[in-house]
Amino acid sequence: MKLFIDTGSVAEVEEIAGWGVLSGATTNPSLLAKEAGDPGEIIRRICELVDGPTSAEVVAEHAAGMVREGRALAGLHRHITVKVPFSSDGLAATRELTSEGIPVNMTLVFSPSQALLAAEAGATYVSCFMGRLDDISVDSAAVVREIVEALEGCESQVLAASLRHPEHAVAAARLGCPVATVPGTVLRQMLGHPLTEKGIERFSADWKSRPEFGDWLRELVDGSTVGAR
Ligand code: E4P
Repeated sequence: MKLFIDTGSVAEVEEIAGWGVLSGATTNPSLLAKEAGDPGEIIRRICELVDGPTSAEVVAEHAAGMVREGRALAGLHRHITVKVPFSSDGLAATRELTSEGIPVNMTLVFSPSQALLAAEAGATYVSCFMGRLDDISVDSAAVVREIVEALEGCESQVLAASLRHPEHAVAAARLGCPVATVPGTVLRQMLGHPLTEKGIERFSADWKSRPEFGDWLRELVDGSTVGAR
């Protein structure tokens, strides 16, 4: 499963892109509204940092406006995927934008029937919001499972969104989602395990108990030609 970062923060993408695990990013109007600065510059910078598909969302209510905004957003950077909220107008806009070769992430999808319509309209990604389903006591994993099954064989990719904790990411992967978009806070939570930290401390202490090993490794590193090209 590919990991996108769900954020409007350039600083957060700068930090996490360095881990080497990001394939793309998603923004939305709420995330961008929290940030200072020009939204176009923020979106462009995120595109450059993740060097992969980056969703930027339209806010118009009607299809014609969505298409105009979508074309303009797509002009910001070659990595832009236009994010279109689910509705009948959103479906029409998705059909138009994708027929022009502009990739679309159809967002706010909460059911298999909506997902089928999004896929038929040509959406590149179909974003199913797990956290918001759990918030209203609907089993998000069950819905994602049905959506993954319903879209089997379609070109559209199921994108697990609204992830609130690491278990959502693991569930999405196990259910066969090809992509999940994960907030920075959750990505940081995915790093940690007390046994990993404890293990690193132990390895370090044991190595330091043999100072001559440290000298040997330094000499090995200094004499190494690998990577010097
Ligand atoms: C998806 O692309 C959305 O930006 C996002 O995942 C929404 O998450 P939320 O429900 O935590 O706002």
